[in-house]
Amino acid sequence: MTYKVTPASALEGEIEPPGDKSISHRAVIFNSIAHGRASISNYLEGADTLATVRCLKALGVDIRIEGGQAGAGGRQTTRLTVTGCGIEGLAEAEGSLDARNSGTTMRLLAGLLSAAPFFTVISGDASLSSRPMGRVIEPLRLMGADIRGRDRDGFAPLAIRGGGLKGIEYHMPVASAQVKSAILLAGLFAEGATTLHQPATSRDHTERLFRAMGAALTITENVITLDPDPLTCLDVQVPGDISSAAPWLVAGSLHPEARITIRGVGVNPTRTGIIDVLRAMGAQLVIGEPRESGGEPVADITVESSRLEGVEICGDLVPRLIDEIPLIALAATQATGTTVISDAQELRIKESDRIQTTVQELLRLGADVEERPDGMIIRGPTPLRGATCDSHGDHRLAMALGIAGLVTRGETIVIDPEVVDVSYPGFWKDLERLKAG
Ligand code: S3P
Repeated sequence: MTYKVTPASALEGEIEPPGDKSISHRAVIFNSIAHGRASISNYLEGADTLATVRCLKALGVDIRIEGGQAGAGGRQTTRLTVTGCGIEGLAEAEGSLDARNSGTTMRLLAGLLSAAPFFTVISGDASLSSRPMGRVIEPLRLMGADIRGRDRDGFAPLAIRGGGLKGIEYHMPVASAQVKSAILLAGLFAEGATTLHQPATSRDHTERLFRAMGAALTITENVITLDPDPLTCLDVQVPGDISSAAPWLVAGSLHPEARITIRGVGVNPTRTGIIDVLRAMGAQLVIGEPRESGGEPVADITVESSRLEGVEICGDLVPRLIDEIPLIALAATQATGTTVISDAQELRIKESDRIQTTVQELLRLGADVEERPDGMIIRGPTPLRGATCDSHGDHRLAMALGIAGLVTRGETIVIDPEVVDVSYPGFWKDLERLKAG
């Protein structure tokens, strides 16, 4: 399939982005192995988070899905009711689990199932099967798990026979929230404490939810210590996903006739690198007073047409905006001056090699962009011209290309646009709605 985006004469209106993907995965996984019952509202009904639900159901967890709940802005939202069964209530699945395109599903469940005393195989699609799994296999083995993977324990499918874990002290080689969460999930059921040293702060949704669910967690700077303890079920109202607000933040900044308000956006400081960078570039953003939802800060954000300037992005800022780099690169094509993105080599092992695919597709649109091993250099402003672009099966790239199409001269065709369903099933509808004003 393809999607044709025609340039917008103006962008105006309100958006309520779908529920946060990372928090949705965590809310259902943690409640499944906790004790009690929980209701999760505004659950992201995306392909990745539904894959997690299917895997947990295959392990015997009772999860009910109700669609059609009207959200604050009238958007249909999804509510899950989860009956927690503890790790002891999980049962060996009859077949292998399918994480599809979702790294979070595979890595977090690998941690959890390392503690479950039965055999599990987890597989994924072609993209997920090419993403590194050694980063979870290694620490989980150190904890005593029997976990193997294809190609000398580097890749999925993973085969796990869980149980008999011991806590570890582990220095993580990369700042990865998925790896951190896999180890902490295993640590809940290990003998003795688990201590993690992070090289930089990655998103902390696991730590927040663990604490709210009664886990004994201490955090000092980038050192996290967890004492094993069962979790108690907790109702969660999932905030809007800042990664799904990001396309509109960039669209509003780039387009010369724009004013967009985005409601209910999660503004956890470990995720707000996109706001910091857009502000540093000169974007006109107004962020309302944050309120609390599900243990996370949430705010409304208004963005208006802005004059952007190039910026430098590197170091500890990178994990705080890692999923937004294709959009930031697009913004940089319209900024005056040079934007340098470095220390972002992790992008090469996302749903696509996002350094290579982003550079390739922006070049197709006429941008001045140069690939670097750990990022890219973008010189702007360059007028973009419509072209046929490939999403490379990557939801974040598909959305960045859709936003580009709003400001190109001529129409932009996006190949495989349906891949946005991974994290934002209503994306194309919202894009047309904002164009209509
Ligand atoms: C995620 C963590 C990030 C991010 C991914 C979701 C999570 O990856 O890119 O989209 O939910 O934990 P890392 O594990 O590299 O931090």
